[in-house]
Amino acid sequence: METPFTSHLSFNHIYEPAEDSFILMDAIEEDGPWLRDEIRPALCVEIGSGSGVVCSAVAKFLKTFCLAIDINPLACRATKETARRHGASVECVNADLVTPLLPAIRNKVDLLIFNPPYVPTETVEIASSKIAHTWAGGLRGRQVMDRLFPLVPDLLSSKGVFYLVLVEENKPLEVEEIFLRQGFKCKFVKRRAAGRERLCVLRVSKIIM
Ligand SMILES: C[S@@+](CC[C@H](N)C(=O)[O-])C[C@H]1O[C@@H](n2cnc3c(N)ncnc32)[C@H](O)[C@@H]1O
Repeated sequence: METPFTSHLSFNHIYEPAEDSFILMDAIEEDGPWLRDEIRPALCVEIGSGSGVVCSAVAKFLKTFCLAIDINPLACRATKETARRHGASVECVNADLVTPLLPAIRNKVDLLIFNPPYVPTETVEIASSKIAHTWAGGLRGRQVMDRLFPLVPDLLSSKGVFYLVLVEENKPLEVEEIFLRQGFKCKFVKRRAAGRERLCVLRVSKIIM
């Protein structure tokens, strides 16, 4: 998978791609043959697209359309520009998680991607006007992602797959348990240490690979 360039962007107000972005792309790339041949995603949704590197790379790699969502309007602008410059089929909507889109995409998402704000912080930092809001995850780094979890069964199509970036402080096994209890198949498909962070990617799917 080609990593999109970002030289057209400045990172004062949007998240600069880092190890967490790359481990997510690596996980999807490694599952590429399965995703292409079995899942054949018609609709991919990336929540928290930031600079747009992940959705642009994935849309091109899997030759699919990706609906990107970000709570930060500047990130939406960046996502659209990155996609345009790379000829990726991406649209970006400025929204809090999937709130306004749920009725339109219910049970239609074949590939769901989220590199959430996962860093444990004070709750107030989630709504900060500074760059911290791009990575601040509140208590145990879970306050944003936890709001998405109950919506995942409603979003995914019958063959849908969800890739989620986590760090150790988020309690990945507890997150896995949330999805196992709902009947999903779960696998940690990537693990990597990056500085002080111990990153992993959890794959949650309706069908076995
Ligand atoms: C860790 S960054 C990931 C950016 C990009 N996907 C990447 O991997 O480089 C998290 C992104 O989620 C966005 N975000 C935070 N809370 C959100 C929410 N409630 N709904 C949608 N996007 C959100 C932030 O603005 C930020 O762009």
